[in-house]
Amino acid sequence: MKNSALAALAAFLVSTPVVIAVPVYGQCGGIGYTGSTVCDAGSTCTYSNDWYSQCLPGSSNPTTTPRPTSTTSTSTRPTSGTTTTTSTGPISTDNPYVGYDVYLSPYYAAEVAAAVKNIKDATIAAKAASVAKIPTFTWYDIAAKVPDLGVDLANAKSIQTSTGKKQLVQIVVYDLPDRDCHAKASNGEYSIANGGEAKYRAYIDAIAAQISKYPDIRIVAVVEPDSLANLVTNLSDPKCANAANVYKSSTIYAIQKLNQSNVYLYLDAGHGGWLGWDANLAPAAQLFGQLLKTAGGTYRVRGLATNVSNYNALRTNTPDPITQGNKCYSEELYANALGPLLTQNGFPAHFIIDQGRSGVQNIRKEWGNWCNILGAGFGIRPTTNTGNSLIDAIVWIKPGGESDGTSDTSSPRYDSTCGLSDSTRPAPEAGTWFQAYFETLVTKANPAL
Ligand SMILES: *[C@@H]1O[C@H](CO)[C@@H](O)[C@H](O)[C@H]1NC(C)=O
Ligand SMILES: *[C@@H]1O[C@H](CO)[C@@H](O)[C@H](O)[C@H]1NC(C)=O
Ligand SMILES: *[C@@H]1O[C@H](CO)[C@@H](O)[C@H](O)[C@H]1NC(C)=O
Repeated sequence: MKNSALAALAAFLVSTPVVIAVPVYGQCGGIGYTGSTVCDAGSTCTYSNDWYSQCLPGSSNPTTTPRPTSTTSTSTRPTSGTTTTTSTGPISTDNPYVGYDVYLSPYYAAEVAAAVKNIKDATIAAKAASVAKIPTFTWYDIAAKVPDLGVDLANAKSIQTSTGKKQLVQIVVYDLPDRDCHAKASNGEYSIANGGEAKYRAYIDAIAAQISKYPDIRIVAVVEPDSLANLVTNLSDPKCANAANVYKSSTIYAIQKLNQSNVYLYLDAGHGGWLGWDANLAPAAQLFGQLLKTAGGTYRVRGLATNVSNYNALRTNTPDPITQGNKCYSEELYANALGPLLTQNGFPAHFIIDQGRSGVQNIRKEWGNWCNILGAGFGIRPTTNTGNSLIDAIVWIKPGGESDGTSDTSSPRYDSTCGLSDSTRPAPEAGTWFQAYFETLVTKANPAL
């Protein structure tokens, strides 16, 4: 190339900032976000909440400006408080929750605060506002959100310094390539066919880098909801069969890379209505045990998380009729059945159980239904008082009020489960705020808010 041409090229590069388009489902806006706000062709930057705008398929709106514009500096996330879990009752030694305050996600608190403004009834609004003080997990479901983890950890660190109370931050690691291989609503940003495994490793590296900067903040991480459970039962689905090896190697990579002394990992184990069937229990325990053996060495794997985003009861004297034929008709029975099998397979038998939306029982037509179930209420509050030494804590993993999936049949992420008669409709895209659903969770909370 001639010098003049080079000069012209240089001038062009200087005068024309290179705009990197965000891929579909990537983040394109929100308070504190500093990346590109331009979406790939065919998708539109869509406001989800003050903290998050996302490139969604469709081009109805030609502008790419997300709202709200971030006029404030990135250091002005809402102040967060903390809450203490009770620690009476049987608890196992080394339970990561004991002696720690669980950090409250400012992101969820902001979602709740925005929702409260839309509730006219003062009594319900007050109950709804109280939800912001109940700890939920923060989902890192796209790599673009990982910098937020650094903000949360810095926040937790300053709370710890100012109050002297040790802080525990709860996260969900959720970005496997070909994610959610047996469903559609929660498919992720990476595909195996398109270098997804390497991208996933970079995502894990980014999380590990944030965590290693705060060695005195404790992290509880739920690893990849639904993924290994799908390998136990859904290998007949070609998408799951194709993903099996990458799911395993990627999970092992996460286990190895997140092996820092402040981290406690709980791999996801579906729920009693999935892996709790007699035919599935032993294969599930073998899969988890084998995975740790393949990883080699000792890692910071504490146990399993169950019932993530589901609606099952912790314990019940009146099993839901849909559970008929399954000995594990409650999550506690599932933990009790799986625990000894895990031990036999060299996998730590400790559990955390999501009860965020389990307040109301017997509301599903079939056990496998999971999408924005009608009539659900917030469930048992997070606590280490679980009454079962296998269960480290009751937690709220799914942020109640965020949709499980859209009911819009024309959406590429439409999953027919979200159109069933026991799902709340109309429902927005997975992960986006679902005001009507949140209000039902509040009014039907059990125990009441
Ligand atoms: C396949 O996976 C779904 C969850 O995606 C689960 O509910 C279902 O029970 C699995 N199918 C079978 C045949 O086990
Ligand atoms: C994982 O980390 C723990 C300490 O945090 C350490 O004892 C253990 O050896 C590490 N495992 C491997 C395989 O490096
Ligand atoms: C899962 O959680 C739901 C509520 O979120 C609850 O109704 C259900 O009982 C739980 N299932 C298990 C097996 O824990």
